[in-house]
Amino acid sequence: MKQIMEIDRLNLHYGEFHALKEMKLDIPERTITAFIGPSGCGKSTFLRTLNRMNDLVPGVRIDGSVKLDGQDIYGADTEVETLRKRVGMVFQQPNPFPKSIFDNVAYGPRLHGIRDKARLNEIVERSLRGASLWEEVKDLLNKSALSLSGGQQQRLCIARALAVEPDVLLMDEATSALDPLSTLKIEELVRELKQDYTIVMVTHNMHQAARVSDRTVFFLNGELVEADETEKLFSTPVDARTEDYITGRFG
Ligand SMILES: Nc1ncnc2c1ncn2[C@@H]1O[C@H](COP(=O)(O)OP(=O)(O)O)[C@@H](O)[C@H]1O
Ligand SMILES: [Mg+2]
Repeated sequence: MKQIMEIDRLNLHYGEFHALKEMKLDIPERTITAFIGPSGCGKSTFLRTLNRMNDLVPGVRIDGSVKLDGQDIYGADTEVETLRKRVGMVFQQPNPFPKSIFDNVAYGPRLHGIRDKARLNEIVERSLRGASLWEEVKDLLNKSALSLSGGQQQRLCIARALAVEPDVLLMDEATSALDPLSTLKIEELVRELKQDYTIVMVTHNMHQAARVSDRTVFFLNGELVEADETEKLFSTPVDARTEDYITGRFG
C-alpha cells in the first residue's frame, strides 16, 4: 500500500515547551487514521503540522520531515497555498462563511481562478454530493449557510474542503460539537470518503476511533506511543500505556 504521507523525527516546540517529540508515522493512502489520547497530548498540534497550520503560531519551531508523496512539505520548493489545496482541513466547530451555501463551496475553486459558471455549478454539485448534503440543500443553494443546522454546516465545511479536490482531509474532532445523529451521519460519510481520499482524524472518543478508522495512533505527553491497525491496537496493544488508556485507567 502506498504511504501518502511520511513523517519522520518530527519535533515541535512552542517556545521552550517540547510539544511533539521525535514522532514517526506513515499514513497509507485511502485509509482512515485516527489520533487518540488524553487532552493536551499533542493530537491537534501533530494534525496541524500536516498542512503547516502551525506556521503562524508565534515562537513555534519545527524540525524533522513531513513528506507528501515523497516531497518535504517544509522544503523550500513547497508553496503553502498548493499544500493546503492538497491537504484540506475541517475543524471542531463548523465554520461556514456568512455567505450562501453555493458561495461557500465555490470559495476555494474561485480562489484558484475558476470563473466559469457552468464549471462552478458542476463542482458545487459534485462536492455537496460528496459530502452527502446535496439532496438536503439543492433547492436552497442561495440561502445563507448559517441557516443550516450544525450537522449540515459541518457537512458543508466538508463539501467546501472537497471542492478543491484534496488528496488528504484532516479532521480535528469534527463531530464533538454535534448531536449523536449528525455524528453518525458524518461517520458514515467519512467511511465513504476513504474510497477517494485519505482521512486523518483526531477524536476525543475512543469508540469513534474503533468504529470508523483503519489505523489508530495513540499519543501521550507529546509522544507518539503506538500506531497500528485499529483492531490490533484495541485488542492487543504492545505498549502498557496504550493498554492503560484504552481500558480506561486514565484519560
Ligand atoms: N499555540 C500554542 N502555544 C503554546 N502551547 C500550545 C499551543 N497550542 C497547544 N499548546 C500546548 O501543546 C500541548 C498539546 O496541545 P494540543 O495539540 O492542542 O493537544 P490535544 O489536541 O491532544 O488536546 C498542550 O500542552 C497545549 O497546552
Ligand atoms: Mg485538540
